[in-house]
Amino acid sequence: MDVREDYKRQVGEAAARLVESGMLVGLGSGTTARFFTEALGRALASGELQGVRGVPTSARTERLAQSVGVPLSELPAEGVDLAVDGADEIDPALDAIKGLGGALTREKVVAAAARRFVLVADTSKRVTRLGELAPVPVEVLRFGWLRTRASLEWLGCEPVLRARGGEAFVTDNGNLVLDCAVTAGFDARGFAAALDALPGVVGHGLFIGLAHEALLADAEGMVALRRPAAS
Ligand code: A5P
Repeated sequence: MDVREDYKRQVGEAAARLVESGMLVGLGSGTTARFFTEALGRALASGELQGVRGVPTSARTERLAQSVGVPLSELPAEGVDLAVDGADEIDPALDAIKGLGGALTREKVVAAAARRFVLVADTSKRVTRLGELAPVPVEVLRFGWLRTRASLEWLGCEPVLRARGGEAFVTDNGNLVLDCAVTAGFDARGFAAALDALPGVVGHGLFIGLAHEALLADAEGMVALRRPAAS
């Protein structure tokens, strides 16, 4: 396992130790959250945890959870006790960009429904200001997507249709993704509000004020960060 994979494993397994028997847990998507779901499966198999159920944030995570023995649930009206997910960028306020894996909309529904939302990542995802490393993924309806793309351009970003193997990438919800290049230090809150108001936009990867904590690992070890009180 290369070192970055090992950092991801450390934070995924540490997050699994936050789970208590009987909890309903949001299962994130991506290569870091995968370690969380796998650790949960092992804890359930060994009897260390009992009665835990997971709400998967993507079809891929659903298949993973089934393969490692984590029972699944719909997202109930009451939400989940804990959600754990990776991120593509995390700033000092624990605001994040997510969605390079394409599961952003379901991930946000689950994160927003969590009494405790914990981000897990290796420290390469840490940024001073959002927009330093990643574009903002925006999930849009196929209907009218050219118009939606033009509206995104008018908002000041550079949207690019996500493709895989020469075909447009299609989300689990049957929609398209426009990756919007932004300038580091852009007004993330203002942009998120504008995206929320744009017809045709189904969801976006700006996770502002959602994460309560972050577990980050690198060669120095693991740190647990809490969202600063003011944000
Ligand atoms: C999936 O849609 C994403 O939001 C992932 O959580 C994010 O891209 C982080 O993925 P990795 O853990 O694979 O870096």
